[in-house]
Amino acid sequence: MSYWRGIIHKYREFLPVEDSTPVITLCEGNTPLIYAENLARTIGFKGDLFLKYEGLNPTGSFKDRGMTMAISKAVEAGKKAVICASTGNTSASAAAYAAKAGLKAFVLLPKGAVALGKLSQAVMYGAKVIAIQGNFDDALYIVRKIGETMPVEIVNSLNPYRIEGQKTGAFEICDALGRSPDYHFIPVGNAGNITAYWKGYKDYKRAGKIESLPRMMGWQAEGAAPIVKGYPIKNPQTIATAIKIGNPYSWQPALQAVHESKGLIDAVSDEEILHAYKLVASTEGIFCEPASAASVAGLIKLTREGFFKGKEVVVCILTGNGLKDPDTAMKVCEQPITLPPDVEKVAEVIHL
Ligand code: F0G
Repeated sequence: MSYWRGIIHKYREFLPVEDSTPVITLCEGNTPLIYAENLARTIGFKGDLFLKYEGLNPTGSFKDRGMTMAISKAVEAGKKAVICASTGNTSASAAAYAAKAGLKAFVLLPKGAVALGKLSQAVMYGAKVIAIQGNFDDALYIVRKIGETMPVEIVNSLNPYRIEGQKTGAFEICDALGRSPDYHFIPVGNAGNITAYWKGYKDYKRAGKIESLPRMMGWQAEGAAPIVKGYPIKNPQTIATAIKIGNPYSWQPALQAVHESKGLIDAVSDEEILHAYKLVASTEGIFCEPASAASVAGLIKLTREGFFKGKEVVVCILTGNGLKDPDTAMKVCEQPITLPPDVEKVAEVIHL
């Protein structure tokens, strides 16, 4: 049988699993790498631009790559419950994989700061959802404290198996391109994913699968840019709620990825994020969530500044599906118009 059976099955030799490890999968991974010539033309980018659409994972974000590993290892270790703090996507993914594994899931969310689609996922998959009257950083602190004393597995990206699973995104990109990209653009929140991708590229190079490594280009939202500023942000603010994080756990590994790859971590404004968010949808037919568009906003910014010299191969990671956050879409787009059931009136509007 050759059907897709998820990232552990596909990349087993690169992952810390044994033949005896129970594989909890929802068939994550194998997401499309989409050639984005319309977007490239629109923003004046002259190289080859690809979008890795991680919103097509089973729960609609890249978190599923890490969660299949974290939950499989939790089951292997005999754990009965998992816990995470989340801006929404981790909790959706944890809840889904816990449901598949028959584990209890507890998720701590910053109250009022999680997109409705993500919240609905966590409750539908049967997690115990706890809204914290604070931000993500407060919730993660509590999760870490509880993890120290209670028999519950933390499945935030401080769990090393999450990073291991997420690095498979890099493998897929290299398999699809037959090489590594020159530049890898990615949004940065808790900084686990940039860490994971860098590890993936390095693992692939060590295994002789690729000859070169990309430069890692991370993007934070201006109001939530602790790594760019160099200090934790007490009260982070951004419309991109998924990356509204003031004190990222993987701060140091992210800096190391940037340093080793001669890349950078910089910030984009909410305005730039929303512009990119709309452009990706209207030029490529791809609906990503606002945080995901930070990678494209970064590309637009650098293209405008004349950063690129010629024919670079660039991959932007679109980390999550836009359907998770329809409220933001409806706020920033042209509103539907209402008309009576009248052919003439509709024809007037269509006006071709
Ligand atoms: N994009 C989306 C859609 C996310 O949900 C996240 C993180 C990121 C980017 C940033 O990735 O944290 O690895 O640097 N979401 C986490 C969550 C924090 O709880 O769902 P990162």
